[in-house]
Amino acid sequence: MSPRTFINLDTPRLILRRFRETDLTSFMEYRNNREVARYQSWESISRVEATKFIAQQSRHRPGIPGKWFQFAAEVKAGGALAGDCALLVIRTTPRIGEIGYTFAPAYQHSGLATEAARAVIDFAFGSLELNRIIATTDCRNAPSFALMERLGMRREGHFVHNAWFKGEWCDEYQYSVLREDWTRVRLA
Ligand SMILES: CC(C)(COP(=O)(O)OP(=O)(O)OC[C@H]1O[C@@H](n2cnc3c(N)ncnc32)[C@H](O)[C@@H]1OP(=O)(O)O)[C@@H](O)C(=O)NCCC(=O)NCCS
Repeated sequence: MSPRTFINLDTPRLILRRFRETDLTSFMEYRNNREVARYQSWESISRVEATKFIAQQSRHRPGIPGKWFQFAAEVKAGGALAGDCALLVIRTTPRIGEIGYTFAPAYQHSGLATEAARAVIDFAFGSLELNRIIATTDCRNAPSFALMERLGMRREGHFVHNAWFKGEWCDEYQYSVLREDWTRVRLA
């Protein structure tokens, strides 16, 4: 699939697709959940902001350097929006990408976030031909770095007081995986 003709990514339980207007209520619900927002750059989202975000994302495609693309993760059984998985191709080094993910509490602890992230990394190394994917997390966000480790990503940095975040300095881990290692680690 060419990134220019991106339609959907398919996993056993999810369809990863562009956001749509009909995602608004579910998207706002998890974006406004305090626990979900705890280690994110945002705290909440208004209806106006969410509408704008969805409109922008629905016209966007993955793989444009410098622009985050959010894949909406729709559960095949029932069609609910479970969360999203994001991909950024770094503007200054376009064969390097960064991923992120956010899932609604009702869809956590089910392996869905890992399933989504794995498909996005497959797409990034396959269709986008990236060479390296990184992910960064607050060191207190254990579910997030557990997911990175489940994917086979390697912790390669512990950055102390790396971000001024919600009123305090915080430490961050950086993880990565290389294209040349992906086939082996994704199946491990
Ligand atoms: C980070 C986040 C996406 C991780 O979600 P998660 O639900 O822990 O991750 P997964 O969906 O891969 O689920 C893994 C869990 O599902 C369990 N599981 C159940 N059924 C499973 C299945 N069929 N396949 C795989 N795992 C399954 C695993 O054993 C694991 O259990 P555990 O949570 O008890 O360890 C989630 O915590 C989140 O959205 N947090 C808020 C936003 C956030 O902080 N994002 C990251 C910013 S850096």
